[in-house]
Formats: sequence, structure tokens, C-alpha cells
Amino acid sequence: MTKPFPDTPTFAGFNAPIRLEGEIFDLEVVEGEIPTALDGTWYRCGADFYFPPLHGDDVFVNGDGVVSAFEFRDGHVDFRTRFVRTEKFVLERAARKALFGAYRNPFSDDPSVAGKNRGTANTNIVWHGGRLLALKEAARPVEIDPVTLETIGDWDFDARLTSLTMTAHPKFDPSIGEMLFYGSAAKGETTPDIVYYAADADGRITKEIWIDPPYASMMHDFGVTKDHVIFLVMPTTSSLERMREGGPIYVWDEDLETYLGVMSRHGDGSDLRWFTGPPRFVFHILNCFSEGALVHIDSAVSEIQSFPFFPDKNGRPFDPERAKARITRWTCDLTSNSSGFVERTINPLGCELIRIDDRIALSNYTYGFIPFHDAGARQAGDANAGFNSVGRLNVRTGEMEDSFFAGPNASVQEPQFVPRSAQAQEGDGYLLVIVNRLDQNRCDLVILDANSLSGAPVARIKLPVRTRAIHGNWVARAELP
Ligand SMILES: [Fe+2]
Repeated sequence: MTKPFPDTPTFAGFNAPIRLEGEIFDLEVVEGEIPTALDGTWYRCGADFYFPPLHGDDVFVNGDGVVSAFEFRDGHVDFRTRFVRTEKFVLERAARKALFGAYRNPFSDDPSVAGKNRGTANTNIVWHGGRLLALKEAARPVEIDPVTLETIGDWDFDARLTSLTMTAHPKFDPSIGEMLFYGSAAKGETTPDIVYYAADADGRITKEIWIDPPYASMMHDFGVTKDHVIFLVMPTTSSLERMREGGPIYVWDEDLETYLGVMSRHGDGSDLRWFTGPPRFVFHILNCFSEGALVHIDSAVSEIQSFPFFPDKNGRPFDPERAKARITRWTCDLTSNSSGFVERTINPLGCELIRIDDRIALSNYTYGFIPFHDAGARQAGDANAGFNSVGRLNVRTGEMEDSFFAGPNASVQEPQFVPRSAQAQEGDGYLLVIVNRLDQNRCDLVILDANSLSGAPVARIKLPVRTRAIHGNWVARAELP
């Protein structure tokens, strides 16, 4: 590599590019024992820059996709990590430099890659229909070999995927094995169209509904219940014209309202109804469920777009307090004549990368597993002002019942709940958490008892390196080939 990475926060310190591929067989267990009940693989996906960006600084969501796997077997864990061979990655590797430019802005690319696939496969990884798919909302899924993590190639659902994109946050119906998902900007960057799909347990697309939203927006996640589908249109708007002039794809436009599009999961989309409310932003849904004609959407809601690198349309400076996301319930009443939705904050703590016991997805539920900053646990001299804890939130009472504190100079990545057994009650199991040891330039994999997050960890597994992911998912060994 002939050019260094820029000295900016995106590339400095613990955020510095890792650029590593390989395997660590039999990781070191430095505390406790790994339960043999943990039998399967925790797949994770994140962003890492292989080459310095084409135009100076960049934003972390523009990094190359990396998939990693913690394979649990008989009380041991093996680790593997590998870059996804997207077309972008392959072309840049051949050139030994970046050729693609700014986040989702094809006008900023080197002319040699005009028309090439800009997908980065850097956000989430899911197992469905016998395929492991690395996802980025701006492109189609990329299939990954579940054993070697080698890239198999783009997956278009046997040519049934009509959208150019697929969300990184599909939903799964645990009772019937369906995967529900959508593509936004489905006809190309900044186009408004949304297309909704259902795929059966074998991965075959069985439903396709095109939707015309009130305006084109960033749609990172959506809601599904047993009976309804909810599209979130919020004022982070896109513009091709702005990108052509060298600006960012997205800006925050607080002059617009939030729209929640609710439709039956069992129909053809003709019943879609839009509910409106004040401008809000959501990256991630916690869970959604229907109670008759009431549709509840629980998510981490902020008053403004929470990525500072997508500017305010009206030039207002970024306000970190308003960008804080809090677990909030929106309720749409399908019997009401009002077009408004009801908003209620469940818990006031700022949080993100929130998860549940996935077995209860789409249904009325009790627990969320919530990364947050515990100011009380932090002590003088602790350099970490980010999320240092993961709590178990009871969404019925709003109480953070219990929490794990990662320690001084440590932060947490997205947790993963794994049930103690297939029959265990909701929330009875283990919580897997990657702890960033900021002062040691490496990570730990910590296994917690989800019933006793503040108790001693079940096990702590030392990684001699950093690993970084945005999202991940557990796949039990019985599900894998
Ligand atoms: Fe996400």
C-alpha cells in the first residue's frame, strides 16, 4: 500500500482500519467456562477500509464489508474473519488503491469504475433458506460460504428480486420461517420506490408489493408483526442533484413530517395507510407487535438524524442531545379516524444497537437487550464516553432491570441473545457481547447469563486483536448444513 490512511477520527485509535483476514483456532478462555449448550456460530458483519479513501476523509459506513464468525463447539470457540469479495473490493485490490469515492455517490468515483457495483456488504449477515447473506441497504445481498466465509456472489433470489437493493434488516417470522424484507431506492440511488417481499422458509420469494412513499428517504429498518408491516419514512432525504454537486446523499430536513405506512401482512398492499407525526429518526427497530387494530412499533427514536456526517438542510449545528435515541413506543390505531400516531418513551436512556430474544420477534414481548452509557458506573479517568454497558430492559415496566458494565476504558458492540435451550422462556439464555478494550487495542468476547447481567460473566474469551462489526446473528448448529 503506497498511501497512508488519513489522520482523522474515522481512521484513528480504536477505529483504525484492521485489514486482517484469517483464523484463530481455539481462542483463549481467560475466565469461566463456555457452556456446551452454546453450539453454533455467531456471524457478524461490519465495515473496515481496506484502502485509504479516494478523497481524503470518509465516513465509517463507507468501509468494505468484513464478515466474521465465532464458532462454538464443545466449550471451545474458533474465530474467522474475511473481507467480502464485492466487485468494489476486487477492483480496488487489483489496483492496490481506492477507486470508489464518497458514500453512495457514484459521481465521486474514479472514471475507470463507472457503472460498476458500488455495494459494500458491510452491515448485517443473516441465515435464511440455506444461504448466508451479507447485507448492505444500497445493494443486493452477497452470499457467503458459512464454513469458509468465502464470497459466493450476489444473490437475486433466482431472478425473483426485482429491486436493486435489499435492506440490511430483514425480519423473520419464527413460527413459519418466513423472511420479510424490502428494498428502498429500489430503482437506483435516490429513487423513492420501496418494494416489499416475503420469502418462504426455503428462500423463495412469494410476495412482492411496490409502494409509493410520501418522499424519498433513508430507510434503514422497518417493522413487521404477525399481522402487519410498517414502513418508516423519516426526514433524512436524498438528492441526486446534491450528489452531483459533490454533496452528501442525505441531509436531515426537519421541515418534513414522519410517516408510518401500515399495511396488512396478508393482503396486496391496497390497505396501506399512512400515519403522521413530528420529525423523528430511527435507525433500529427493537420489536413490533399487533394487538387487534393497534400496531405497536418499539424502536430507538431520536429527535434528529443521529449521524453527524449527514448535515441539517437548514444549516443547524448537530445537537448530540437531540440525536440521542431512546426506546420509544409508537402506536397506530387502525380503527381511528385520526392520521396521527401515539408516541410514548419507554426508557429515557440513550441507546443503540438494541436486540431482543429473536424467538419472540413480531409478538408481544417483555425484554430488550440495550447497549447504553452508564454514567454511574464510569469512574474518573475512564476515557470511554460511549456505550459502556448492556442492560436488560423490561419494556412492559420501562425499567432497566439489570446491566453488565464492561469496565473502565471499555465499550460494547451489539449484543446477541442465545436461548439456553429451544424451550427456554423469553430472555432465559446467554448474552454474547464483544467488549472493546480501548486501552489494549483488542477485544474480548464476553458470555453473560441473561438472567444475571450484573453477575460474574459465564466466560470471558480473549481476542489478541480488534474485531469490529455493526450487526450479527446467531445460527444454531442444527440449522447449518
Ligand atoms: Fe442497522
